[in-house]
Amino acid sequence: MNERLRIAVQRGGRLGTKSLELVESAGFRILRGANELLYRIENAPIDLLCVRDDDIPTFVEDGVADFGIVGRNVLEERGVGSLTEVMPLGFGRCTLKIAVPAGRAYSGVESLQGSRIATTYPRTLSRFLEHNGVEAEIVSMRGAVEVAPRLKLAQAICDLVSTGATLEANGLVAVDTVMKSEAVLIHGAPVLDSELAHVGESVVQRFRGVAASQGSKYVMMNAPRSALPEISRILPGAGAPTVTPLAGNDDAVAVHAVCQESVFWETLEKLRAAGASAILVLPIEKMM
Ligand code: PRP
Ligand code: ZN
Repeated sequence: MNERLRIAVQRGGRLGTKSLELVESAGFRILRGANELLYRIENAPIDLLCVRDDDIPTFVEDGVADFGIVGRNVLEERGVGSLTEVMPLGFGRCTLKIAVPAGRAYSGVESLQGSRIATTYPRTLSRFLEHNGVEAEIVSMRGAVEVAPRLKLAQAICDLVSTGATLEANGLVAVDTVMKSEAVLIHGAPVLDSELAHVGESVVQRFRGVAASQGSKYVMMNAPRSALPEISRILPGAGAPTVTPLAGNDDAVAVHAVCQESVFWETLEKLRAAGASAILVLPIEKMM
C-alpha cells in the first residue's frame, strides 16, 4: 500500500498545464524536482504521476494511481472498465467531430455510407456509425489524421476539435459531432487505507470547489424591493439571493447572489432594465 496518494496527470499536452493549475488552485503546492515523471506535493501526502494521457485510465484501473485527470474522449475510446468518473473538471473542452474537405457535399451521417474515415478514435467512431446505422470503413491512425483526405487515404476524418485551427489549416470543415469532451477526474476501485481515503476525500472536495468557483461569479447590485422577482429570474443559475435593506431607504435593497453560469453583458443590461443599479460582478476564488 502506498503511503502517498497518487494522481495521474497528462505530461504536457492539452490537459497537462491545466491539470497542474487545478492542483495548485486546490491549495496543493507542487515541488517540481528533477524527476519529470513524479512531482511531490509539499503540503499533503500526494504525488503527481505525469504520464501519457492514453496510459492514465490503465494506471488508475491497475491501482498504480488512485485518481487520474484525463479527457473523457480518452476514457470513452479505451472503455470505462471498472473506472468511475468522479466529476467533470470544466477545462480541456473539445469535441470529437466528423470533418470533410471544404466544398464536399454532406447532408447528414448517411453521406458517410460506404466511405473511408480516418481517425485515432476507431472504437468511439465505430459506435457512432453503428448507432446511426451507417456502414463505413474506419482507417485507424496514430496521429496527423487531418492529412488523410489530402493523401487520398480517406474521404472524411473523425478528430478532436478545440479551436478549429487544425481543420481550417487543412481545408476541412466539421460536419457532425460524435462526442463532447472535457477533462474529468477518474477513480478506480477504492483500495485506499483509511488515512489516504481521507486525503482522497479532501482532493475531491477541493477540486469540486475549484471547478464550481471557476464558472461562478458573485453578483452584487442595488434594486427596488419590487424588482426582486424579476431580478431573481434574470440571474443565471443563482439560488435564492441574499437581500439586505439599504440604510435610509425603505424601498431599496442590496442583492447578492452566486451565479453558477457565465454572466454576460446582456444579463447586466436586463438587470439594469429591471431597475438594478451599481451592478458588480466579481470572480470567486474558493467555494465549498
Ligand atoms: C488534437 C487533434 C488536432 C488538434 C485540434 O490533438 O488531433 O490535431 O488537437 O485542435 P484545434 O481545433 O485547436 O486545432 P491533441 O493536441 O489534443 O493531441 P492528442 O489528442 O493526440 O493527445
Ligand atoms: Zn493523446
